[in-house]
Amino acid sequence: MEGPRSSTHVPLVLPLLVLLLLAPARQAAAQRCPQACICDNSRRHVACRHQNLTEVPDAIPELTQRLDLQGNLLKVIPAAAFQGVPHLTHLDLRHCQVELVAEGAFRGLGRLLLLNLASNHLRELPQEALDGLGSLRRLELEGNALEELRPGTFGALGALATLNLAHNALVYLPAMAFQGGEERAVAPCPRACVCVPESRHSSCEGCGLQAVPRGFPNDTQLLDLRRNHFPSVPRAAFPGLGHLVSLHLQHCGIAELEAGALAGLGRLIYLYLSDNQLAGLSAAALEGAPRLGYLYLERNRFLQVPGAALRALPSLFSLHLQDNAVDRLAPGDLGGTRALRWVYLSGNRITEVSLGALGPARELEKLHLDRNQLREVPTGALEGLPALLELQLSGNPLRALRDGAFQPVGRSLQHLFLNSSGLEQICPGAFSGLGPGLQSLHLQKNQLRALPALPSLSQLELIDLSSNPFHCDCQLLPLHRWLTGLNLRVGATCATPPNARGQRVKAAAAVFEACPGWAARKAKRTPASRPSARRTPIKGRQCGADKVGKEKGHL
Ligand SMILES: *[C@@H]1O[C@H](CO)[C@@H](O)[C@H](O)[C@H]1NC(C)=O
Ligand SMILES: *[C@@H]1O[C@H](CO)[C@@H](O)[C@H](O)[C@H]1NC(C)=O
Ligand SMILES: *[C@@H]1O[C@H](CO)[C@@H](O)[C@H](O)[C@H]1NC(C)=O
Repeated sequence: MEGPRSSTHVPLVLPLLVLLLLAPARQAAAQRCPQACICDNSRRHVACRHQNLTEVPDAIPELTQRLDLQGNLLKVIPAAAFQGVPHLTHLDLRHCQVELVAEGAFRGLGRLLLLNLASNHLRELPQEALDGLGSLRRLELEGNALEELRPGTFGALGALATLNLAHNALVYLPAMAFQGGEERAVAPCPRACVCVPESRHSSCEGCGLQAVPRGFPNDTQLLDLRRNHFPSVPRAAFPGLGHLVSLHLQHCGIAELEAGALAGLGRLIYLYLSDNQLAGLSAAALEGAPRLGYLYLERNRFLQVPGAALRALPSLFSLHLQDNAVDRLAPGDLGGTRALRWVYLSGNRITEVSLGALGPARELEKLHLDRNQLREVPTGALEGLPALLELQLSGNPLRALRDGAFQPVGRSLQHLFLNSSGLEQICPGAFSGLGPGLQSLHLQKNQLRALPALPSLSQLELIDLSSNPFHCDCQLLPLHRWLTGLNLRVGATCATPPNARGQRVKAAAAVFEACPGWAARKAKRTPASRPSARRTPIKGRQCGADKVGKEKGHL
């Protein structure tokens, strides 16, 4: 934020000020920065995060290109809400409790490339909500409550390359969402099932079927076959369903998907096979559905990732394998899935992630390995994941973090989960390589008595240190200093010595005043990276990269 300039030419400045006050508001607005925001005018970035704003502030500099409004309380985006900032290329509206986007809300944003509306409360999008966004390349709608999309919703987005609709209440994505107009076909329906021509949904949920029925309308887009009994799904089980987008086969007792079972499903995007009895998938099991983007295999009996079968899915975006019995990740497990962004392997029995096991997924953004049996961070396997944003390792018996544990993903990582991991020790360089990109760090519910200061994590928005037995003596002074300068609630509490018990590490000044080096506190404004911070005593275990190197060697 630029402060008012001081000047020695007082007599000149005063009349100028008066002139400015009298000048049309628009002109003054070009100079100002709204009070709730931070304006980096050299880069044309404006951030007004977590300010409880209920409307888009006016007086945002007109030339702004990136506007970050995440974490406010906007609720409604009215028509032409961004008329004053026509140069925007990036607009971030995550976590703004948005319930309604009015028709024409983004009118005038013809240069916008990225619109992030993730984690809001949208249940629907009016037909003309996205009008005017002719340059938009990426639209994030993850984590809303969208139930249906009207035909033509995305029709105005001629340049769109990425659309993220994960974690909504959508049952299917109508192909017509990208076009205008409507057509209709009246067609037959298998006995015991319900086929609705308007929505192109066909359902035989819980009909006690023993085999996949035939004879659905040939334009069916969603087929719901949940809660029937198909121990084996035969070859070409879904004939004539070339328009199918979403196939629901949860809770069907499926133990085998025969080779070519999905033959002819050229438009399938979502395949739900959760809660079945699958222990594996043969190489040809998923052939015939080359556009499949979302594969749900949770709560089956997989002993390994079905890498050979995944090779048939060049468009796979999101792979769900939570709560199976996978015990290791080996090279080739992620097949040729180069488009893969999200991999969920929580709640398996993974003890080892081999070097190269994650190698080909260069677009990978989220990797969830929580609730497994990993005894160390799989540092070597993280090589080759240049886009990783979120790494979930909580609930593994890690106990210690070695130096450089996250080095390979240090540049990209934004969210790191290490809670409930039995951590007793964190080596001084454990987080080296991680820098200003890291937004959240979860270290709660561990056995940490000490923690080095982490001044390089200068942009943290969340660090949870609660439920750790911190020992508040002089070795903790660097941490105390760092936390004191950090404008965040961290939850770090002293467990010992008895006279400090229950005090917040940040607030326990009495403990630290007696420490040698306390006097240096006056110099607090310089970053607190002192030699003492690098000499946290280490009991019994080894820090340092040589140990990690050895571990790599044996793989
Ligand atoms: C926003 O509102 C919450 C709840 O009322 C309050 O705790 C918080 O401090 C407010 N934040 C700002 C920046 O005003
Ligand atoms: C479905 O079948 C009918 C009659 O056989 C045909 O006219 C129609 O074009 C088909 N529709 C689709 C979407 O394939
Ligand atoms: C780790 O913390 C996150 C955020 O609080 C929570 O959602 C997750 O369930 C925790 N994981 C475990 C294994 O406790």
